[in-house]
Amino acid sequence: MPTNRNFVPSFRWQIVITYLLIIVVGFIITNVSVLNILGRYMINSKKETFRLYANWIAQIISYDYASGDPDILSGIGYDIQDFGEEIFNKERESTRILVLNKNGVVDYDSYNIISGPDSLLKQNLSKNFPEVVHVLNGESVEPRELYIRPGNSSDSKLVLYSYAPIQHEKHGIIGMVIISTSLSGIEQMLNEVKTRMGTYSITVAVLIILTSYLASGFITQPIKQLTDVIRKMSQGHLDQRVKISGSRELRQLGEAFNIMSEKLENLDRARNEFVSNASHELKTPLSAIKVLTESLIHMEADDPSVYNEFLNDINSEIDRLNTIISDLLTLVKIDTEEVQLDQEPVDLVKLVNNTLRRLQLLAQQKHITLESYYDDHLTVSGDSVKLQQVVSNIVDNAIKYTPEGGRVTVEVYENSGNAVVKVSDTGIGIPAKDLPHIFDRFFRVDKARSRATGGTGLGLSIAHKIILLHGGNIRVVSEEGKGSIFYIELPLKV
Ligand SMILES: Nc1ncnc2c1ncn2[C@@H]1O[C@H](COP(=O)(O)OP(=O)(O)O)[C@@H](O)[C@H]1O
Ligand SMILES: [Mg+2]
Repeated sequence: MPTNRNFVPSFRWQIVITYLLIIVVGFIITNVSVLNILGRYMINSKKETFRLYANWIAQIISYDYASGDPDILSGIGYDIQDFGEEIFNKERESTRILVLNKNGVVDYDSYNIISGPDSLLKQNLSKNFPEVVHVLNGESVEPRELYIRPGNSSDSKLVLYSYAPIQHEKHGIIGMVIISTSLSGIEQMLNEVKTRMGTYSITVAVLIILTSYLASGFITQPIKQLTDVIRKMSQGHLDQRVKISGSRELRQLGEAFNIMSEKLENLDRARNEFVSNASHELKTPLSAIKVLTESLIHMEADDPSVYNEFLNDINSEIDRLNTIISDLLTLVKIDTEEVQLDQEPVDLVKLVNNTLRRLQLLAQQKHITLESYYDDHLTVSGDSVKLQQVVSNIVDNAIKYTPEGGRVTVEVYENSGNAVVKVSDTGIGIPAKDLPHIFDRFFRVDKARSRATGGTGLGLSIAHKIILLHGGNIRVVSEEGKGSIFYIELPLKV
């Protein structure tokens, strides 16, 4: 096996890989868009909630914040701590509430960090946060989420900022509220969904590999079976057939293959039969010659006429061998010459007439009347020598298988685009059970009788082959004891 074949995946794995690729791409697209939509949805609903919280707090503290009374003002610090806890209890997210005055300076921080780097008290946020300026100017600012890195920690956190102005009926905007809340819950949940979808996708992918591997067996199994059968056939086991299963196309392939292998088997059987028949036919005269020569060797007769008689017998057996061999050669030649058949215009009437003239003597010897009826000239296309051989064979048979005093009639006429040569005799006829085999090689109704008349059983099969090669047809109608009619049909040349 060539080494590069190892790198080509089998059909089965190609199917599995294709399925897997489709599924993986599908999962990636689904997972990414599901996570995106889900994240978007959850963050948006949080934004809505926290916008309401910010407005709610701003409204509640606005009156106190505007009072300017130090006792009342000191209460605001506790109030926003309480609000922070309340929101934490509801949302389960740490929440920091800042109250800024109308200059953007932090007055209250729910984390209440007085000093240190995290302390925002008394810091002016309007410099670093443009939103602060926008809100204090009376513009509405949507809540927004930000990834921030708290302190020197390396991983970022998702934080939501919401803003609300503190309005006073007389003084207008007197400050603002900022709520910052961590969205770690959403982050955690999205991560969990991601992991779940990941494991789910991997599980499904594994299942897909398994099922597609099994399912692809339905496709590849018949192909594999077919390959095995072809391999066995190539080793000479021509009786192999495939079991037809699988899809419609595979069934059709299987059926076509079975038809082909059956034909191949028949061909092989016919060839073997032919070889064994031919050997048998050649062996018979050879055995006779062997017996005759051995008798001659051991004979002590003085009479030369006895030797003469034996030698004559040997001679006729040799003639017989010759006839068989030349018939065989003719058959083989027709088989191989199929393509290069002469295609010249042939006047069928003239051809039949010539043939009959040659056979007239044979008919006279047997006291058989040989009559003929012709149409005008009928021209066909083909090989005149081979066609003459056909007519000669058929008429010769008619004379041979008709008892003395009988009649053989040959007619040539036109019938629906065909030239027809009809040869009828009043002879012994052919038994119905033998009619289907009449054109088989070496077939003879009565072997002994045919051999006595010098027949080889090859004449009709040669004739049949030649006519088929000319695009024509040959058929026979016969009744035992009454006679036979042979029809040779050839397409007329237009
Ligand atoms: N006109 C016929 N009448 C009766 N039997 C015939 C006729 N033609 C052929 N047959 C039968 O068909 C057999 C095959 O014919 P053919 O192939 O020409 O062989 P053969 O060498 O015996 O003539 C013959 O042996 C004979 O039994
Ligand atoms: Mg014959």
